[in-house]
Order: sequence, then C-alpha cells, then structure tokens
Amino acid sequence: MNNRVVNVLAAASVAGLMFGLFGMSAGSAGAADPAEQVKDRQQTMKKMGGGMGAVAKFVKNEGATAEDAAKGAAAVLAVSKMDLKAIFPEGTAVGVTDSAAKPELWKNWAEAQRYWSAVQPAAEKLDAAIKGGDRAQIAQALGATSKTCGSCHEDFRVKKN
Ligand code: HEC
Repeated sequence: MNNRVVNVLAAASVAGLMFGLFGMSAGSAGAADPAEQVKDRQQTMKKMGGGMGAVAKFVKNEGATAEDAAKGAAAVLAVSKMDLKAIFPEGTAVGVTDSAAKPELWKNWAEAQRYWSAVQPAAEKLDAAIKGGDRAQIAQALGATSKTCGSCHEDFRVKKN
C-alpha cells in the first residue's frame, strides 16, 4: 500500500472508533445525566426559538422565504407536541450546569403544563396562517405564539442579562 492509502485507512478507523465511543456515551450516560438533560432541553428550546425567528424574518421581510417560515413553524409545532415531562425532567433546575429553569416550574407543575399546552394550538394557527400566505395574519399568529412562550419564561425562567 502506498502512504496515502494507509493514511486514509487510519483516518477512517479513528473516525469509526470515535463514533463508537460517542455512541456508547449517548447510550449509557445520556438520558439520565442531568447536565445532558439540561443541554437537550436548551437545544429543544433553541429549535423553537430558531423557528420563531425564521417566521419573524419572513414577516419583516428580512431575507427569510415563505419556505423558511413554513419550516420554522413546523419546528415549533413539532416541539410543542413533546411531553413537558420529557423536556423538564426533575432535577434539572437552576444549579445544574447553566440551567435557567426555576425550581418553581416543578412546584407549580400544573401551571407550567397549562402554559405548555397553550403553545401547540398557537403553533397550529401559525402553521395554518403561513399556509394561507397572508402576511398580516402570519404576523398576528406569530405574536400570539410568542405570548405563549413569554408567559412561561416570565414565571419560570431565570432572566438573563
Ligand atoms: C412551560 C414553560 C415554557 C414554555 C411554554 C416555553 N419555554 Fe422556552 N424556556 C423555558 C425555560 C424554563 C427555559 C430555561 C431552560 C434552561 O436553561 O434549562 C427556556 C429557555 C428557552 C430558550 C433559551 C435556550 C437556551 O439556549 O438556553 C429559548 C430560545 C426558548 N426557551 C424559546 C422558547 C420559545 C420560542 C417558546 C414558544 C414557542 C418557548 N420557549 C416556550 C420554559 C418554557
């Protein structure tokens, strides 16, 4: 074998090994590790934030296409269908890495659940408005959806400066 082939094979096997290791850590530590759960949640929330952002950019005519907006709304809608318990497992409040979830969220679980269940119908309206194509209606539905996010953040998320 010439050197190049050897290098390519070596690189491939290192990549394979790393993949294997990551796979293992995801399997063994992943779900039960609070720090990991916080990270997952923040990513989940970011997905919704990104989706909302895309719709906002479309509404404001800041470069996002109707397709971007549709994808954004779909992302918000998909996350809104998740079980709140899965996003906020116990033991992931402020204090675990950089969690900004107030302990009150778990103490007032019924209220958190109420806030959460308001997101989906709002996201459905947003999705429908985007399909309808009327920008004013989209803007209105975006505002309404954003309110459902904000009310929970207001009560249960630590304010960041
Ligand atoms: C049931 C309450 C609740 C609802 C409803 C909710 N959030 Fe959140 N959100 C939180 C909490 C609590 C945090 C802090 C999470 C953490 O730091 O672990 C958060 C964090 C975030 C973050 C920051 C993530 C990061 O990188 O740290 C974004 C962005 C976000 N939410 C967007 C949204 C959007 C957009 C919606 C509505 C479509 C929404 N959220 C609805 C409770 C909620």
